[in-house]
Amino acid sequence: MTPAYAETRVRNTEARDLPGIIELTRAVYPESKPWSAEQLWHHLDMFPEGQFVAVTPDDKVVGMAASLVIWWDDYESQMSWRDFTAAGTFANHDPAHGRTLYGAEVMVHPDYQRHGIGKMLYAARRGLAERLGLLRIRAGARLRGYHEVADRMSAEEYVRCVVRGECRDPTLSFQLRNGFHVLAVVSDYLLHDPESRGYAAIIEWLNPAVATPEDYPKGLEFG
Ligand SMILES: CC(C)(COP(=O)(O)OP(=O)(O)OC[C@H]1O[C@@H](n2cnc3c(N)ncnc32)[C@H](O)[C@@H]1OP(=O)(O)O)[C@@H](O)C(=O)NCCC(=O)NCCS
Repeated sequence: MTPAYAETRVRNTEARDLPGIIELTRAVYPESKPWSAEQLWHHLDMFPEGQFVAVTPDDKVVGMAASLVIWWDDYESQMSWRDFTAAGTFANHDPAHGRTLYGAEVMVHPDYQRHGIGKMLYAARRGLAERLGLLRIRAGARLRGYHEVADRMSAEEYVRCVVRGECRDPTLSFQLRNGFHVLAVVSDYLLHDPESRGYAAIIEWLNPAVATPEDYPKGLEFG
C-alpha cells in the first residue's frame, strides 16, 4: 500500500480544515497554546490565497503554512513574531502596499516530517509570491536546535555554523536548502520556545523575476 505521505498534496486552506489545523498545532507544539479558530478564520477572511494545508487523500491535515503580505518599512528586523503578525491575527495584512510575503507559520505533523511535505509547502509559497509579483518572502526561522549548543555558542555563532553546513538545525538547514539566506539573528522572537531560547534567524528568499541587483544583500554577515 502507498504510504499516506506519498500521496499528500498541498492546496489552499478551506473552512473545513480549521479543526484539523488546531489538532496539528497540538501535535507539533504540545506545550503551547494552539492557533485559535478565530485567528484562523481571520487569516482565511483576509488572505485566503496565502493559507495552505497539506492533506492526505482522506483529507487529514498533516501540514500547514500561513502567510500575509506586509510593507516591510513599517517594521524593524528586531521586532517579534507578535509584531509581524499582529499577535497572530494578520490584521496588519497590507496587500495594497506590501511587497513582502511574511511566513507566519509552517509546520508538518511529526509523523509526516522528512518526506518532502515541508518542501511542497515552501514551493506553494514561492508560487504565490511569483503569482502576486511580490519582491520576496521573509520569515523568522526559530533556531530549533540551538538549545543543544547554547552552553557553548552564541546564537550568532550557531547560525554561522549552520550556514557553513558544519551544524545542522532541523528548521534553518531545511530553509537554507529551500533557497533562503539569513539577514539577521534576533532574540525574543518567540515567547515560550525553550528549544530556540527565543532566538530566530530572519530569512529571505528573493523573487528572481522581480528583484533588481540592489535588492540582493551585499556581503551577507551570515553568508
Ligand atoms: C521545518 C518543517 C516544516 C520541515 O517539514 P518537513 O516536511 O520535515 O520538510 P521536508 O521533508 O521537505 O525536509 C526536511 C528534511 O527531510 C529531508 N527529506 C525529505 N524527504 C526525505 C526522504 N524521503 N528521506 C529522507 N530525508 C528526506 C530533506 O532533505 C530535509 O533535510 P534537511 O533538513 O537536511 O534540509 C518541520 O520540521 C516542522 O514542522 N517543524 C516543527 C515546526 C517548525 O519548527 N516550523 C518552522 C517554524 S520557523
